Amino acid sequence: MANNKKPRLKDVALRRFLSVVSVTLLGVFLLIFLLGTNSRSKDFVSGEPEEYLTYSYNHSNINKKINLPKQSELSIQLEKLNQKPPRNRDLYPRLPKNHITIVLYVHNRPQYLKVVVESLSHVVGISETLLIVSHDGYFEEMNKIVKSIRFCQVKQIFAPYSPHVFPDSFPGISPTDCKDKGDSSEKQCQGTSDQYGNYRSPKIVSLKHHWWWMMNTVWDGLDETRGQSGHILFIEEDHYIYPNAYRNLQRLIELKPEKCRDCYAVNLAPCDVNSRGEGWDCLIAERMGNVGYSFNRTVWRKVHKKAREFCSFDDYNWDITMWTKVYPSFGDPVYTLRGPRTSAVHFGKCGLHQGQGEKNACIDNGVVHFDVDNVDKVANIKPEWEVRFTENQSGYKAGFKGWGGWGDERDRQLCLNFARMYLLEDTNTSSSKL
Ligand SMILES: *[C@@H]1O[C@H](CO)[C@@H](O)[C@H](O)[C@H]1NC(C)=O
Ligand SMILES: *[C@@H]1O[C@H](CO)[C@@H](O)[C@H](O)[C@H]1NC(C)=O
Ligand SMILES: *[C@@H]1O[C@H](CO)[C@@H](O)[C@H](O)[C@H]1NC(C)=O
Ligand SMILES: *[C@@H]1O[C@H](CO)[C@@H](O)[C@H](O)[C@H]1NC(C)=O
Repeated sequence: MANNKKPRLKDVALRRFLSVVSVTLLGVFLLIFLLGTNSRSKDFVSGEPEEYLTYSYNHSNINKKINLPKQSELSIQLEKLNQKPPRNRDLYPRLPKNHITIVLYVHNRPQYLKVVVESLSHVVGISETLLIVSHDGYFEEMNKIVKSIRFCQVKQIFAPYSPHVFPDSFPGISPTDCKDKGDSSEKQCQGTSDQYGNYRSPKIVSLKHHWWWMMNTVWDGLDETRGQSGHILFIEEDHYIYPNAYRNLQRLIELKPEKCRDCYAVNLAPCDVNSRGEGWDCLIAERMGNVGYSFNRTVWRKVHKKAREFCSFDDYNWDITMWTKVYPSFGDPVYTLRGPRTSAVHFGKCGLHQGQGEKNACIDNGVVHFDVDNVDKVANIKPEWEVRFTENQSGYKAGFKGWGGWGDERDRQLCLNFARMYLLEDTNTSSSKL
């Protein structure tokens, strides 16, 4: 997902990634990574009692209380679709109690989605869980692919306040919006510019809105998941998932309390999206990555409490916002635990904004090839392994001022409203100015 405002970075990275198909980045990693294997004893989440929130919500009440944008007909329809129970319950009537729900969030790249879905169909244990597909916008071709899934329970949800669902009003484009730098002082137009003087672009802000809406919804808004305190795994429409992903995930989650008390999460892939892992015989604790991350409700509550930080930071990338604002506000470094060999790979070449209809069609010749070796087909994480901490890792940090694109007060308020939708009592984000 961090593949938007970082296009140059990304392109370079991708070229490298493609040219080094059978990866041996090991040498590089030995140099880059400054490793420590200190065993940590400190408890990670400081004194946050587990709150079990079991609010039921009534949409029409919510809309009244928190001043969400006036809904379009499509938006209302989508909200109704979100209430539908999962499909394939007849095929998989009972899920194991501690299953790890998988949330796949997508926009409109059907050719990519096909690849992810195909990869998920080979994941060992996939039938034991619920797959939630969260859509940014409503696209028939995307629906068709999701509806064809038979390998597990599937629930589709659609962001009802996606800019893609509002053709001529906020959160979409509205005729009164300011457009070019300097507009506001000259004309009576609506909008607040970002730190670089640019006004909002609905297509671009949709990414962060979708992520935040989805997080709030899957944790606090759905009957299917609201009662679960365990981990949820998050993946995107351009992530290839290896057959051992679910079994490895289960192991990592099981090992986390004992092996890495500083870890907030577990990851299926290295933080460096170009790496396939070091291949060492150890577990690795490093900074949170954005490919195949999974955390539990305790961590979500901590994140949710930072709604203000998340919603007011002037960067339209959710992941950069997390790295530079939200995680640093926790105090301690936010580590994630992963295996030495990746179980998920980011393959997307084009940014999320280039959907289907764009001129530069962005499927990499329609072919994505991954070497799936035998070790990638079975759980390959060993409980006896030690943990190596990667310290002082490079990347976005507190102090970074943001790439902009998130300056409009209306976006910030909508974002705060998403945090209050299901838990009116939980956050003090009343309509006060940020
Ligand atoms: C939701 O609230 C509205 C307005 O208060 C009420 O008319 C409606 O019956 C409620 N719906 C449910 C499902 O409780
Ligand atoms: C959730 O994960 C955190 C971080 O690993 C841990 O401290 C906490 O106890 C976990 N919560 C539950 C309910 O398992
Ligand atoms: C990482 O940074 C901290 C604080 O700047 C420093 O104390 C520590 O020695 C560094 N660790 C390594 C392995 O360089
Ligand atoms: C909510 O936050 C505002 C501004 O920070 C503060 O004035 C107000 O007292 C807070 N309300 C509650 C109920 O905590």
